[in-house]
Amino acid sequence: MKLLAISGSLRRDSHNTKLLRAAEELVPAVMEFELWDRLKEIPPYDEEDDVDPAPGAVAAFRAAIAAADAILIATPEYNSSIPGQLKNAIDWASRPLATSVLRNKPIAVIGASTGAFGAVWSQAELRKVLGATGARVIDADVALGHAHTKFGEEGELLDEAARDQLAEVVVTLLAETPAQKVADPNLLGEQAREARSVARNVVAA
Ligand SMILES: Cc1cc2nc3c(=O)[nH]c(=O)nc-3n(C[C@H](O)[C@H](O)[C@H](O)COP(=O)(O)O)c2cc1C
Repeated sequence: MKLLAISGSLRRDSHNTKLLRAAEELVPAVMEFELWDRLKEIPPYDEEDDVDPAPGAVAAFRAAIAAADAILIATPEYNSSIPGQLKNAIDWASRPLATSVLRNKPIAVIGASTGAFGAVWSQAELRKVLGATGARVIDADVALGHAHTKFGEEGELLDEAARDQLAEVVVTLLAETPAQKVADPNLLGEQAREARSVARNVVAA
């Protein structure tokens, strides 16, 4: 089983990328975690360029989404909305609309911002956009406000409540994956316990 994580920020020191790294620690061993770090390579969407073969980074992005059982996106908020580079990548991934790699894909949206509200408007708009693409948007969230105060020197998430919410997002997303739907429900119980116990241990450490 594979979880693809996408940060909407291009910054090396991004709080959203750190939030995804914190999620990685909570992902049960049964799930492979891949962080997509090529957002900057995706060109501006142009319908004239949306031909076969697609531009290299676009083809790689679509392939990564197709290979994932579930997706976790952490988005910053730019002027109360989705950063352009993230929206642009989703526009590429959404075509052709009827058969796109996003269709029916379980996706959870989380976000971090240095403002008080943790990118809630951006997250809401991203969920709307993903819904329009036919993705299966999961009802779970983390809104990490004042993000510049929430990580330690090693990038560890210091906010205990946020870590618990992150564990719930991971568990909820896992439960929605097609692979999990046919698996033993007891296994999900074990994975959920594993994610929650990792969350508690990291905070206690
Ligand atoms: C162009 C721009 C617009 C921004 N607009 C908002 C905003 O509307 N709300 C907010 O909470 N933060 C806003 N911020 C601050 C971001 O939350 C902050 O830069 C955050 O760290 C970006 O995420 P990152 O650390 O993952 O790169 C804005 C930042 C930039 C550069």
